[in-house]
Amino acid sequence: MFVKMSDLARPSFKADPYPFYARLRAEAPVCATELLGQPGWLVTRYTDVFAVLKDERLLKDWRPATRWVHRFAGAITRNMLNQDGPDHLRLRALVHKAFTPHLVEQLRSRVESVCDELLEKLETDGRMDLMSGYALPLPLTVISELLGIPPEIRDRLHGLSRSTFSATNILGVLRSLPDQRLLISRIRKLVAERRREPRDDLITALVQAEEAGDRLSEPELVATIALLLVAGYETTVNLIGSGALALIQHPEQRQKLMREPTLAPSAIEEVLRYTSPLDMATQRFAREDMTLDSVKISQGELVLAVLGSANHDETQFANPETFDIMRQPNKHLAFGQGAHFCLGAPLARLEGQIALTTLFRRFPDLRLAQVRESLRWRKSLIIRGLEELPVAI
Ligand code: HEM
Repeated sequence: MFVKMSDLARPSFKADPYPFYARLRAEAPVCATELLGQPGWLVTRYTDVFAVLKDERLLKDWRPATRWVHRFAGAITRNMLNQDGPDHLRLRALVHKAFTPHLVEQLRSRVESVCDELLEKLETDGRMDLMSGYALPLPLTVISELLGIPPEIRDRLHGLSRSTFSATNILGVLRSLPDQRLLISRIRKLVAERRREPRDDLITALVQAEEAGDRLSEPELVATIALLLVAGYETTVNLIGSGALALIQHPEQRQKLMREPTLAPSAIEEVLRYTSPLDMATQRFAREDMTLDSVKISQGELVLAVLGSANHDETQFANPETFDIMRQPNKHLAFGQGAHFCLGAPLARLEGQIALTTLFRRFPDLRLAQVRESLRWRKSLIIRGLEELPVAI
């Protein structure tokens, strides 16, 4: 079997990819594919996805394949998600401290007040597109405030990063390059401002780390800020949006959560599993010839781990298509696994819990303002999320 990646990026596929993933797990668990001219393999079973994410023979930066990306996309690619070994560890260690569960917990009251402010509009108007009115501005505000990105340029940066994310073929990638460059030059400007006038924010802390010695180069500094900004909200927006949809569609689960707020942490884990906001992990390349599930993968070939499929694997999760906020155990892979395990997981969990519990506490009868079948999903290779979610109270 051969799967075209462009088919997996279609909005109609994203609406419900799970029957096809079940077929792949049964018939072709390591299935041939191709991405941007690069031959590769899609991996769909839980055990294989887990193994791939931890396998040190699979590299993020395999020069023969990634050289042209570095050349065209430039500074933006010098981030930890594209590095291996000591360089990856060095970049991750620089920001890790800012995202520990303890520090993130201190953001709780700020996250609560942003949620409340955004929901005022729903209260007044009686209806809202929950994606643009709530699910997006909450994480965008939180990560921007942490980094120190001023409110007046947040929407502009969002527009630039969205176009970068939407590319699903070579033409799309080439078209997004000017926006990537603009994003980088805007971040460089912020870096220069913080050098002149330090503040109490993460950009200043990173600038000071760069100035302190050889721990961080200028392109790495800029790429780290871009990654934190984009990773900080482009996934969480879908945790909140798809999570709200799942809870609207499962009223008995929603009522259980409202009766017992202590279920919030376990409910968020189930939302992460059931909706898998990052449907596919980012690229990995075989450093050497290897075998996976009796399939031979040659040196340099691309390996793509399908997190959404692993999270619906019936050998790991009983009744995987059932949305159960009390599911135990729930060892989902929505945040990845191994060296690149999501750095922002504590922040995403906190935002998801507060956003969804606040929403349904204030509006217990929230309903869809359009039939489910007509909801539009985003065209994307790795993200799974809604374009719009019109709701009414
Ligand atoms: C629901 C929300 C989120 C989901 C589902 C998610 C998912 C993921 C996944 C699957 C990876 C690993 C990708 C791979 O191995 O190819 C990852 C990495 C990463 N995430 Fe998240 N993420 C979320 C929110 C956040 C937030 C709020 C931040 C905030 C800073 C963040 C920052 C990062 C960073 C920096 C990495 C790279 C880590 C590394 O390379 O060592 N993420 N995320």
